Amino acid sequence: MGKTGDVSRETFKGRANMKIIAVANQKGGVAKTTTVINLASFISAKGKKTLIIDLDPQANATSGVGIEKDSIKLSIYEALLGNAPLSEVILPSPYSGLFVAPASLSLVGAEVELVSAARRELRLADQISQNASINQYDFVIIDTPPSLGLLTLNALTASQSVLIPMQCEYYALEGLAQLYKTIQLVKQNTNPGLHIEGLVFSMVDARANLTLQVIAEVKKFLQDKVYESIIPRNIRLAEAPGFGKPIMAYDKHSKGAEAYRLLAEEFLRRNSTETPSPLAGEGRDEGAQSGNPSPAPSPETGEGHRLEEIKL
Ligand SMILES: Nc1ncnc2c1ncn2[C@@H]1O[C@H](COP(=O)(O)OP(=O)(O)OP(=O)(O)O)[C@@H](O)[C@H]1O
Ligand SMILES: [Mg+2]
Repeated sequence: MGKTGDVSRETFKGRANMKIIAVANQKGGVAKTTTVINLASFISAKGKKTLIIDLDPQANATSGVGIEKDSIKLSIYEALLGNAPLSEVILPSPYSGLFVAPASLSLVGAEVELVSAARRELRLADQISQNASINQYDFVIIDTPPSLGLLTLNALTASQSVLIPMQCEYYALEGLAQLYKTIQLVKQNTNPGLHIEGLVFSMVDARANLTLQVIAEVKKFLQDKVYESIIPRNIRLAEAPGFGKPIMAYDKHSKGAEAYRLLAEEFLRRNSTETPSPLAGEGRDEGAQSGNPSPAPSPETGEGHRLEEIKL
């Protein structure tokens, strides 16, 4: 990752009302896409104009809000490659106030094709800063693939914050440490303003003892960044993508719909009062301006614990 200066401030200049959030966790199947689809659809239903940017070649966020493959002429791939402006890629979804910059399978190639390209981690940030029409959105929510490759780096570089869905399992904490290191690297190299939006526990089975232990351990590290809303395991949430519908349209009375509706409300509440201050467990910014591309410091909690040392 090359040092490129204070990109985030250039990108967001004059756009105080728009917020860009990457939903990321390099672990597969932790509900990144489910969270993108359902958070975005609920906040748009609450009157916030929202754009989903689908950076995952699996394109599950695209199909999950009812965008048909055949209707996609240009995808976010073309925008990343510089072959189309972002504004031409965006499609309306069937839901009022919800828009999608769709993914396509060609994104698989983008990881390779961009390897030797100039400003390769900045492709999405550049597209956003060059497209004034993006100003119209209240929130831009980016779905990322299950890796910390170039697509996820583009998402983290273009975003103000990262929302982390996590499952309550034994190895989740290791994964969190790795993601945290990547966030620190991005802060040092391309996006000093990046911070953790929050962490959401997904697919929770409240009866499992391990669940409570994992939640307690993560709270030690991320404190109030951990969302109070918890998403239970709910079959209706798993079924909805097969019908190309967010849960609010598939079964609005299900437990899954209720959980994501509460999550959306908590998200909006947190964003209505948010002040951009250094946050629990992620206070280190010094490397950001120094031009020093050395590895990120080990993640430390506010109490001086190292995340790697947190064991169940
Ligand atoms: N709360 C839930 N209850 C039941 N099933 C769920 C829940 N959340 C997600 N799922 C299902 O679990 C699977 C993984 O979810 P999802 O695709 O959202 O994860 P992901 O992190 O985006 O995966 P990937 O890393 O492959 O992109 C999907 O089949 C999804 O429908
Ligand atoms: Mg996904």
